[in-house]
Amino acid sequence: MISTRIDWVREHCQLLRGIAAEFGRTRPFDGLTIGTGIHLEAKTVALLLTLRDGGARLISTGNLNTTQPDAVDRLRAEGVTVIGAPTKDGDVHAGYLGEVLAAEPDLILDNGGDLFARYLDRPYPGLLGGTEETTSGRMRLEPLRSRLRRPILVINDSPIKQFAENEHAVGQSAVESFLRMTNRVTNGEQVTVFGYGACGRGVAANFRGAYARVSVVDVDPVTRLRAHLDGFGTPPRDTAVADADITVTGARDVLTAADLPLLRDGVILANAGHFPAEIDAAGLIGAAEVADTTEYADDLLTLSLRDGRRIHLLARGHMFNLAGPRPLGNSIESMDLGFALQARCLEAVARRSVDATSCVVPVPRAIDAAIARSYLDRKYSG
Ligand SMILES: NC(=O)c1ccc[n+]([C@@H]2O[C@H](COP(=O)([O-])OP(=O)(O)OC[C@H]3O[C@@H](n4cnc5c(N)ncnc54)[C@H](O)[C@@H]3O)[C@@H](O)[C@H]2O)c1
Repeated sequence: MISTRIDWVREHCQLLRGIAAEFGRTRPFDGLTIGTGIHLEAKTVALLLTLRDGGARLISTGNLNTTQPDAVDRLRAEGVTVIGAPTKDGDVHAGYLGEVLAAEPDLILDNGGDLFARYLDRPYPGLLGGTEETTSGRMRLEPLRSRLRRPILVINDSPIKQFAENEHAVGQSAVESFLRMTNRVTNGEQVTVFGYGACGRGVAANFRGAYARVSVVDVDPVTRLRAHLDGFGTPPRDTAVADADITVTGARDVLTAADLPLLRDGVILANAGHFPAEIDAAGLIGAAEVADTTEYADDLLTLSLRDGRRIHLLARGHMFNLAGPRPLGNSIESMDLGFALQARCLEAVARRSVDATSCVVPVPRAIDAAIARSYLDRKYSG
């Protein structure tokens, strides 16, 4: 028998499999519609089908540039309504998000705050609340708390998501994706990581593990001190930019056309942050210093500058660990942990066991503890 990668992923999402079996009996989402705006790839298929097994009607779209056609086909075959197709066009994507909200879902599973922010433009009465997956979404939704006024649990702020996915898994998949996309060496190269939060720490540690020399740039001096004590170079920003061979960002608006005079010949720019605004790709490509651009297969772009320097850009500044040929994203187990948090948090909102005082707050401690126990029990139960 030949099975698909999606079947492989579902087989190894052991937490989600256990929850799906339980949801099949307890049906927490019976009669409810869940609107989702999250990357559509193999692991989210496992999550969405778990919610469906709990009785949910699902109406789903992806995020910019990360929708995988086989995931869409599988979801549709399993009865999930999927809106749209892969796109890098923000306006087209906004249309897809609008279609999800037009179904007036009872619960929202958001990634980047796209659905909750748009809900405020055209509110409807039945929205119970939901979840937000990322740091970027939490930052966007925090100032909107007084208008959202419903339970919204932020998966990113669970310590489990922080260390299992953001730190360990993003770090590993950033190195995996760099090698997969460029096939270039890391040994002995200078890597500058912008942002030393959970993701940046993992990216820095994993490039160091791949024998690169790693520097860190962070706007927060306390965080910079941490990077220094962790053994990374922490030169002033402009020195770090000039020295960089590979730059992996974890923050917004960190590299723009104004940096072109500083960038070294042959630098490879890649963004691991959620939104493509962290490296201003359009600004770099359109800069007066750029004489020519060469587009290679597999989402590689080279800018040739008038002074002879060449700047390489991965995935035009989109999140590169879900881009390029055969993108795998973060490890199955890390996503199984994060998505188990998602399933349990949506269940808590559906059952009204959290109220409007839990608007844009971290995952309840009891859910974290239950998921951690369940993961460890499976490891040690043979
Ligand atoms: N690629 C993935 O698979 C993946 C997974 C999870 C999260 N993310 C995304 O990665 C990004 C970072 O997440 P995180 O959890 O590490 O966030 P975080 O809040 O823990 O850390 C961000 C760090 O960036 C620093 N920073 C802010 N502006 C800066 C600037 N201009 N220059 C340098 N440093 C700056 C902050 O001081 C902070 O230390 C977010 O966009 C998040 O959504 C990506």
